[in-house]
Amino acid sequence: MAAPAIEATGLVKTFGAFTALDGVDLTLPRGAVTAVLGPNGAGKTTTVRILTTLTAATAGTAIVAGFDVATHAHEVRRRIGLAAQDATVDHLLTGFENLVMVGELHQLPRREARDRARQLLETFALTDAADRRTEHYSGGMRRRLDLAVTLVANPEILFLDEPTTGLDPRARAELWDVIESLVDTGVSVLLTTQYLEEAERLADDILVVDHGHIIASGNARDLKRQLGRDRIGVTVIDSARLDEAGDILRRVCATEVEIDRSVRTITAPTSTGLGGLTTVAHALDDAGIEVEDLALRQPTLDEVFLALTGRPAE
Ligand SMILES: Nc1ncnc2c1ncn2[C@@H]1O[C@H](COP(=O)(O)OP(=O)(O)O)[C@@H](O)[C@H]1O
Ligand SMILES: [Mg+2]
Repeated sequence: MAAPAIEATGLVKTFGAFTALDGVDLTLPRGAVTAVLGPNGAGKTTTVRILTTLTAATAGTAIVAGFDVATHAHEVRRRIGLAAQDATVDHLLTGFENLVMVGELHQLPRREARDRARQLLETFALTDAADRRTEHYSGGMRRRLDLAVTLVANPEILFLDEPTTGLDPRARAELWDVIESLVDTGVSVLLTTQYLEEAERLADDILVVDHGHIIASGNARDLKRQLGRDRIGVTVIDSARLDEAGDILRRVCATEVEIDRSVRTITAPTSTGLGGLTTVAHALDDAGIEVEDLALRQPTLDEVFLALTGRPAE
């Protein structure tokens, strides 16, 4: 089997007395997207900065594209691309000029740099905007150009630090499509995000980080299975019976319940599976409460995240 794209062990980063990373282990398989998911301040950017040689770890080791970031930074840099959290393009240049400039920085001959720029503009649906200064680009166009810039030198590993933060839902969805098509070209991607939906949509593996620790990992389904309990959901027909139905669920599931009055629905975590569902159905029936919908479902990643960190994801 091919060596992983990244193998990091025991990464620690301190800033004075503050510990931003507290022993992060991370393996990035080749040709896949791995998401580092966590709230603001979790340590995502610090991890990316260590792995891309921009800052040194206080302790621990990281092998990126086969080279140690501490001793072979130059070798690592030749093989990676980074779309940083803050955009790096020059706003006084056009999209085309930005890409050519980066190509030349990577020592491509001018002609090759221009060909590569045109090809990337095409890939990222920016051909029409090629000769416009990027200061006039929309947020989504800028992020696409950021991505294009990282690809100029054909990196093996791509780091995307919160690529869609601040974008509207449509621009975000467009960027997701672009990232998916990148992975089809064989590049390995480490993506950081605060959005569960994004991690679930794009990543094969998800590492959940909080306070500089990885607190859970696996694919979205694993995470839900390991950490979240199934939910029983009841929607009643008569909103006047909602609280009564809530009492029944609370009793049967022996847990707190959530009541959403706007949709006449009660949700309760359960470990009793279908048996619990049947008991709830009988109890509601005995009380003469009519039900519009009764279902057992998996927790959402949002609910998993809340269970892990004690606060909502966004
Ligand atoms: N240069 C720095 N000096 C001091 N503290 C820092 C520095 N960089 C990051 N931190 C702190 O480290 C923690 C992790 O930051 P960061 O990696 O940027 O988190 P994230 O990208 O997940 O939002 C935060 O509490 C942040 O304030
Ligand atoms: Mg960050």
